[in-house]
Amino acid sequence: MLSAVCLGGCGKETEPEIISIKIGVTLYDQYDTFLSGLMDHFNEYASEKESETGITIHVEAYNAASSQSAQNEQVEDMIQEGCNVICVNLVDRTDPATIIDLAERNNIPIIFFNRELVEEDLERWDQLYYVGAKAFESGIMQGELAVDAFREREGMDRNGDGILQYVVLEGEAGHQDAIVRTEYSVSTITQAGIPVEKLGNAIANWNRAQAQTKMSQMITQFGDAVELVLANNDDMALGAIDALKAAEVKRNEWPVVIGIDGTNVGMEAVRNGEMAGTVYNDKEGQAEEMLELAFDLSTGADLTSLQLENGKYIRLPYTKITAAEASEGMEDMDK
Ligand code: BGC
Repeated sequence: MLSAVCLGGCGKETEPEIISIKIGVTLYDQYDTFLSGLMDHFNEYASEKESETGITIHVEAYNAASSQSAQNEQVEDMIQEGCNVICVNLVDRTDPATIIDLAERNNIPIIFFNRELVEEDLERWDQLYYVGAKAFESGIMQGELAVDAFREREGMDRNGDGILQYVVLEGEAGHQDAIVRTEYSVSTITQAGIPVEKLGNAIANWNRAQAQTKMSQMITQFGDAVELVLANNDDMALGAIDALKAAEVKRNEWPVVIGIDGTNVGMEAVRNGEMAGTVYNDKEGQAEEMLELAFDLSTGADLTSLQLENGKYIRLPYTKITAAEASEGMEDMDK
């Protein structure tokens, strides 16, 4: 393994100059809105890094299409194709064993991202890393947005009983973000002293169309009793809005809808007032940290500039977004 990048002759004749690196990426589902935005930025940032360093960066991206066994084979292929490092967005976050074994056997570092494996798995080899977000923050911030809406929007408590009737649209069962967001958004509201009543919840797998179907059922079941929709991500918040529109619920009778992610479509819905707010999941920050880590691992640079937690984790913070921030932040965030 090369121990240093040696550009323009650094005096050590024995160390070859690195002129290109190859980074493999496999996504659990390339059509996931948040992840496709993250990957777009990853590719853009890789080109910037190429111009800055003069080192060619080949990015090979694969779609695992929700199959863990397909993803395991992709990792094997990427190792054979000579990838220096592989970024893995696990299909099943509880099943990384095959990938970890392959990586260790071939001495290829792995950066897991967005779908977090348990710590014991990450500890299985010293060349395993994780890049993601501070999961708890997203739930807490979503709860805070709901609290602000309740205090500021007259008429949100439509039946005037002082209790916030809500429904939750959840991401995949077992996904760390779905679990944490569902729990902390609600506990933040109750800790602020607002009594709540859960009318219903439904799993919609981060997906807009599935969320529309589930929300349509809840509109039929609960009518106008729903005062708040907490969606684990923006795509599902938008699916809820699709359902309200399809059911021809009058705009001033919509429940307050809050998402998470700040995807381009989510930010637009916050700007136009259809969503009361969202929580920005920093896809640019995550993509850039992942590229920097992959670059340093591939070129043998030391990792000190990356401020890894426990030598293995990089976690980016979230930001609360209401209409004001969604409009202001357009230039720098919503790219
Ligand atoms: C995002 C979701 C996305 C999921 C995929 C979450 O962090 O908020 O939008 O679908 O990751 O794993």
